[in-house]
Amino acid sequence: MSAEPLLRIRGLRTYFHTERGRLAAVDGVSFDVGKGEIVGIVGESGCGKSATAQSVLRLFDEKRLASYEGEIDYDGTDLLRLSPKQMRDIRGNEISMIFQDPLSSLNPVHTVGQQIVETLRLHRPIGKKEAAARAIELLRMTGIPAPERRAREYPHQLSGGMRQRVMIAIALACEPKLLIADEPTTALDVTIQAQILELIAGLNRRLGMSVMLITHDLGVVAEACTRVVVMYLGQVVEAADVRTLFAKPLHPYTIGLMRSVPRLDGDRTQELPAVPGSVPTLGQVSPGCRFASRCAFADDRCRSEMPELETLPGTDTQVRCWYAGQIAEGRLADANRER
Ligand SMILES: Nc1ncnc2c1ncn2[C@@H]1O[C@H](COP(=O)(O)OP(=O)(O)O)[C@@H](O)[C@H]1O
Ligand SMILES: [Mg+2]
Repeated sequence: MSAEPLLRIRGLRTYFHTERGRLAAVDGVSFDVGKGEIVGIVGESGCGKSATAQSVLRLFDEKRLASYEGEIDYDGTDLLRLSPKQMRDIRGNEISMIFQDPLSSLNPVHTVGQQIVETLRLHRPIGKKEAAARAIELLRMTGIPAPERRAREYPHQLSGGMRQRVMIAIALACEPKLLIADEPTTALDVTIQAQILELIAGLNRRLGMSVMLITHDLGVVAEACTRVVVMYLGQVVEAADVRTLFAKPLHPYTIGLMRSVPRLDGDRTQELPAVPGSVPTLGQVSPGCRFASRCAFADDRCRSEMPELETLPGTDTQVRCWYAGQIAEGRLADANRER
């Protein structure tokens, strides 16, 4: 069914230590990213997508802000057991990340060329000249016109789309095996969005690079991803290959997200959700299914017992819902009426 895993996340919990106590922003997340695969992570804002991504690279301050539990197996190594030094060797080298807002992650006082050179020289024993040539080549690969000139410019001299390309060039400098892209196109206009996605998809095809693509845009998922993981309030609620998920969503939350997808010919700037209600804050989590407070089908069991993420028999879909079987058979409406 799916490719050999490069990244295997199991039971990941990321706790933030806040004034209100320890909050699990990521609460028992498990999924794989196969070699050469583009896996989409979707869900409304606040569902823990970024926290999951940043946990993979252990970007949160582990002394004061956050702690992790579970396993993040990358190519046979549990990243959660590595030393800070070993993690630095992984970041930007084996696994790279690009963020929604490139301006905040680029250094304003260095030219973009210098920033690519730095990344290269941090991980590879190459000379300055060779690194500078490679930086230009990387900028060219991301579709930046006149890369020799652009390499000498500073981030503020570039447009949003250009900056995102620079981020991608930096991320790709060391030919990572896994690219984590956290809403890489959200801040960009629709045409540039499409170009950046095509760039990522092309690199995936040519270099076999695996991609974890975080987005709240199901249109993006449909275009770019092979598999999809749907998150709600720190948990995976559904995971399936992209065709299956679109043809037969099984979790009421996924079904709600699907309904909210703007038409393909229409306005893609519209954001989720059309799911009624809003994501509760982490402090308000109740014992049962996390989605129960917004689910049209929820009953007493849903409100008191948390369903596990399980493969629904007879399907390739993993889903976390007591009534997934009935939804799959189209019986939920009736079942609901009987209760
Ligand atoms: N540094 C932090 N300290 C405390 N809580 C945080 C921090 N970063 C994120 N959170 C909380 O973690 C939850 C998940 O956030 P996030 O991963 O950013 O969601 P998403 O990327 O899906 O929009 C949210 O409730 C958010 O408020
Ligand atoms: Mg986010």
